[in-house]
Amino acid sequence: MIVINKASEMQAIAKSLQKQGKTIACVPTMGFLHEGHLSLISYAREKADVVITTLFVNPTQFGPSEDFSKYPRDFENDCKLAGENGADYLFAPNEQEMYPEEFNTNIHISGVTEVFEGAFRPIHFDGVALIVAKLFGCTIPDVAVFGQKDYQQTLVIKQMIHDLNMPIDIAVMPTVRMENGLAKSSRNKYLTEEQSVKANMIHKALLNGREAIEKGIRERQEIDYIMAKELSRDFDFRIQYIASAKADDLTLPDNFKPEDDIVLLAAVYLGNTRLIDNELVVA
Ligand code: PAJ
Repeated sequence: MIVINKASEMQAIAKSLQKQGKTIACVPTMGFLHEGHLSLISYAREKADVVITTLFVNPTQFGPSEDFSKYPRDFENDCKLAGENGADYLFAPNEQEMYPEEFNTNIHISGVTEVFEGAFRPIHFDGVALIVAKLFGCTIPDVAVFGQKDYQQTLVIKQMIHDLNMPIDIAVMPTVRMENGLAKSSRNKYLTEEQSVKANMIHKALLNGREAIEKGIRERQEIDYIMAKELSRDFDFRIQYIASAKADDLTLPDNFKPEDDIVLLAAVYLGNTRLIDNELVVA
């Protein structure tokens, strides 16, 4: 696997691959790779001739009081894991390369960015859209692979691709979990051992919601109450949201229709660590 740091060099390689008729898959990450990321790289390996993983901890998607400076990093191990799992290139620019002094562009996507994560992290999705657009500009992919773990992020990216006429297929891969159900995340590193055992209650709460829907409950607030019940009784958890929404646009009908796909979304603090998770209930 070849590590590239310069945007212009990455672009030149991508263009030359294109000229040779090769298809390119891009897997954007912020590093500290775990099996969730690796499942995306493996999928990309199957889908395209060339796999480019990107590694950049993107400052513009972190709020001022968030964990940008302490976000876990392990470049050596990331290189090893990305290579072993099928990446041909690792594009790892530094901050100056992505946001030089003269940088002056913003991207704002309305609608789907305004609820759930967007309500609690106001600048987050602008930062995500901006960096993903830039990474696409550098890697010129035919397909880009994302995880369902960040469900709202996948909707935001799809909206951007559509609105900005970017000729890229977006693939979304299922959430990889620990044995106890906790979704794998780079931020799990912040959890104590005791907390990571306990954190599985978040997924359990979402599964209670799934069970309710599968039993035929369609009233949104009833589903949300069933999910929140146990978690809100445990004072180790601080719930930001645990709620159901229409899966395609995150709108909130009073009652879901039988044909609606429903997404169950949670953002919960356990101690100082903010964890997100979701379950998709397909009609
Ligand atoms: P990061 O959190 O590093 O995640 C990179 C990709 O891995 C995302 O598509 C995310 O959804 C996916 N992922 C994370 N945990 C996963 C799991 N347990 N199972 C399956 N996929 C998982 O998401 C970002 O970085 C950034 O916002 C980024 C898109 C790179 C833009 O900076």
